[in-house]
Amino acid sequence: MSETAKIELDGKVYELPIVRGTENEKAIDISKLRDLSGYITLDSGYKNTGSTKSAITFLDGEEGILLYRGYPIEQLAEKASFLEVSYLLIYGNLPTQIELESFENSIKKHTLVHEDMKRFFEAYPAKAHPMGVLSSMISSLSTFYPESLDPNRSAEKKNLTVHRLIAKLPTLAAWSYKNSTSHPFMYPRNQYDYVTNFLYMMFSMPTEDYSVDPVIVSALNTLLILHADHEQNCSTSTVRMVGSANANLYSSVAAGISALWGPLHGGANQEVIEMLEQIVLDGGNVDKWVAKAKDKEDPFRLMGFGHRVYKNFDPRATIIKRSCDEVLEKLGINDPLLDVAKKLEKVALEDEYFKSRSLYPNVDFYSGIIYKAIGVPTEMFTVMFAFGRLPGWIAQWKEMTENKEPIGRPRQVYLGSTCRNYVPIGDR
Ligand code: SDX
Repeated sequence: MSETAKIELDGKVYELPIVRGTENEKAIDISKLRDLSGYITLDSGYKNTGSTKSAITFLDGEEGILLYRGYPIEQLAEKASFLEVSYLLIYGNLPTQIELESFENSIKKHTLVHEDMKRFFEAYPAKAHPMGVLSSMISSLSTFYPESLDPNRSAEKKNLTVHRLIAKLPTLAAWSYKNSTSHPFMYPRNQYDYVTNFLYMMFSMPTEDYSVDPVIVSALNTLLILHADHEQNCSTSTVRMVGSANANLYSSVAAGISALWGPLHGGANQEVIEMLEQIVLDGGNVDKWVAKAKDKEDPFRLMGFGHRVYKNFDPRATIIKRSCDEVLEKLGINDPLLDVAKKLEKVALEDEYFKSRSLYPNVDFYSGIIYKAIGVPTEMFTVMFAFGRLPGWIAQWKEMTENKEPIGRPRQVYLGSTCRNYVPIGDR
């Protein structure tokens, strides 16, 4: 017998179906509420509202659990490659050896970018923020591949668009960095694996041979996996919203990149490092800055702390914090920012303000310290987040299009003027 929820409005009782997920999440399906009662619901920021049913990622904010297609993030971060996890998110299962090799070889075939796109970079100011460059470049891919404009034309064309995007984003991301340094662009090399190729394009120079530290490749592989998907976060919801209008994948992901840029979302990893540097510059008085974060009159927030869903430790932050110690030790780096971050975390976690609001370190709190240790400049941190989140955005867009979900169009409660007549300007 299907479960229902009863709601009484204006003396009438309405029964609405209950939907249960495979991890026992419960929802009231209100899709018929307005037709039945004339009422809509209101939930600013969608804090209590599900936008879709999805089989990609499950997270339990109270228990600090994160599963990609059922696999615990801890196991994937330790044992899988980033392209293997990308395949898992997009196609639903871990690839066999043959499937993974075929996927990797297909990606390798598309890592080059149309030569005309290189000219776009010449028009940007040297200090252009790479997130603004990346969003425009990814949207511009649709102009070079017009077959992508109809996302539902054929499964084969859709898959080609997916592989092109996975292959070209790292090249465009690395070139946006080279552009900001006025250094020569480095072309992808197919002898490298996906993550090494990105590091090669970012840090090598035409004047010397390039050798990459396996510690750095492993650290980046882990970071990218930890960022790969996170169910219906702000940028993923943006990708789904834009894609629901039948917009192509490139423009849907470009919109997601813009949403991720926000300092309350993916832009937080850059803000965290800038915050830690400010605290070090200010003499390292952690108590003073925790007090500022608690002061409602002070706009300062503890960046990298708090989360809409996690009311426990963000499992990704736990893994990144552990990786921080390992990577810095292996690279022989002693970063005072890590010491300040640990002190900040300790003070905050013992403070009633943070405990009462379940504010814990999130994925952005420690990630910047590793990016800094492997040589990524601060302005590229959110680009690294976009690089990691790409397979998740693609998987969510693909699921939404394959489920033929309706165009997203929320309702509102109107609070403006009631109807009034036009008054000629002389009579106002
Ligand atoms: C990401 O959704 C995802 O999954 C996102 C993400 C992903 O993988 O896609 O996990 C990635 O975006 C992580 C979050 C990165 N952002 C930051 O670190 C910025 C700092 N954090 C916050 O601004 C905030 O915690 C949010 C935006 C993350 C969550 O905001 P909510 O859920 O809207 O919570 P809120 O702003 O209503 O805060 C509740 C209370 C408020 O105090 P009261 O009004 O109850 O007195 O907690 C306070 C807030 O003032 N608060 C903070 C705080 N975060 C919340 N106070 C000080 N410092 C903070 N960081």
